[in-house]
Amino acid sequence: MSDQFPINKAAVGLQWGDEGKGKVVDLLASQARYVVRFQGGNNAGHTLVVNGKKRVLHLIPSGILQPGVTCIIGNGVVIDPEVLVQEIDNLEKDDVPINPSRLLISPGAHVVMPYARVLDGCREEALGGKKIGTTRKGIGPTYEDKVARRGIRIADLIDPTNLRQSLESRLPEKHRILSEWYGAPIQDIDELLAWAAPLAERLRPYVTDTITLLHQAMESGETVLFEGAQGTFLDVDHGTYPFVTSSNCVAGAACSGAGVGPKDIHAVVGIAKAYTTRVGSGPFPTELLGEVGEAIRAKGMEFGATTGRPRRCGWFDAPLVQHACRLNGVTHLTLTKLDVLSGMPDLRIATSYGPSVSGVPANADALEKVELSWETMAGWDEDITACRDWDALPDNCKAYVERIEELVGVPASLLSVGPGRSQVIPRDPIFKRATS
Ligand code: GDP
Ligand code: IMO
Ligand code: MG
Repeated sequence: MSDQFPINKAAVGLQWGDEGKGKVVDLLASQARYVVRFQGGNNAGHTLVVNGKKRVLHLIPSGILQPGVTCIIGNGVVIDPEVLVQEIDNLEKDDVPINPSRLLISPGAHVVMPYARVLDGCREEALGGKKIGTTRKGIGPTYEDKVARRGIRIADLIDPTNLRQSLESRLPEKHRILSEWYGAPIQDIDELLAWAAPLAERLRPYVTDTITLLHQAMESGETVLFEGAQGTFLDVDHGTYPFVTSSNCVAGAACSGAGVGPKDIHAVVGIAKAYTTRVGSGPFPTELLGEVGEAIRAKGMEFGATTGRPRRCGWFDAPLVQHACRLNGVTHLTLTKLDVLSGMPDLRIATSYGPSVSGVPANADALEKVELSWETMAGWDEDITACRDWDALPDNCKAYVERIEELVGVPASLLSVGPGRSQVIPRDPIFKRATS
């Protein structure tokens, strides 16, 4: 990889989400002019800890705390306008100014309507013991409507005549599904228009042709960072179907979700935790159901940033992350939360799914049944949260990282040793520039 700039990067999660994408994007944003979210919605919760202050972002890209960065919510994102307005207000209260030089919204992004949220909850309840464990934010129903060509887009939201017409044609069906099938409440057209009007007023100034803007910026040599949400195994195509989200989360989705071509992305930063977590239902081969899993949850503070649910915890799964590196074309691996493993007497790594399994089965039942091979490595006791270079790390920690690199096949070019922006060990020039 050349060290020529600008290098446009995509930053994506390699496991089941919550890998620390927010932290890494905040860091990398220091060398970007634009940071673009390209999929997902406010099912995401991206945590930034800067100068000791913690913030969780759900829709606004994680570059917003870097001065001089313009954040873009791309066409591939689904936007709950209530949540976005609230997020803008919260940041402004915190002295982070938000205006159209800091935030732009694609008119092509779809709107999470109130009935989509209700439907998400109804569908989950109807599944009973077979719940997906969604965030109930309306993400699935909104993407369904998008693909079925009956969605409401930001362009419709900010145009009251258009919105009325769109709702007139869509509401009868929603009404039947919600009130007749599920017995749930649904707002009528006037209530929905009254809900939309003030939100549209607030968001209209930010809506612009983000695609032409991005291309003009790239042509004049500006750097763009594409921020993924969720993780590779929550991807609707490549994840543990049906226990997935409703969008493509892999790096390739940055192209369709932001309106750029593959040649516009020069490096793919894949982010993995030094162990594994998952929120919601679905297979998890290396899950730890006893005390060790609880210890990791407590030390890593593994509770969902969006729903507060306890995250399921397990050992590092090398075949999973290796496969994710292929699916995303990862050029730079980041390992986060290494500090959480300090004090564990020994660490286990799953190294194989057995001779008859190739890749990672995309079917939940098949992944449930894989036969894991394990390696055990000696742990380390030292607190590593203050380490800032490779040589300062304990030997056993270095050996753990090196073994993961070997198994996964991509160099770990950034190690994260704490939630703070500066708690990193850069091992590649693209990160050295971000931290200097
Ligand atoms: P995201 O969804 O991928 O952005 O990740 P989340 O923000 O949902 O979850 C990651 C959590 O780990 C957040 O609470 C971060 O502040 C925290 N975090 C990130 N990197 C590190 C790290 O290296 N060490 C520790 N201890 N916490 C970290
Ligand atoms: P970030 O960007 C972790 C999970 C949900 C559920 C499944 C489907 O913070 O990493 P959905 O509401 O999307 O229909 O739920 O996906 N999920 C996440 N898990 N991190 C996320 O985002 C997630 N977004 C969705 O828990 O299992
Ligand atoms: Mg998260």
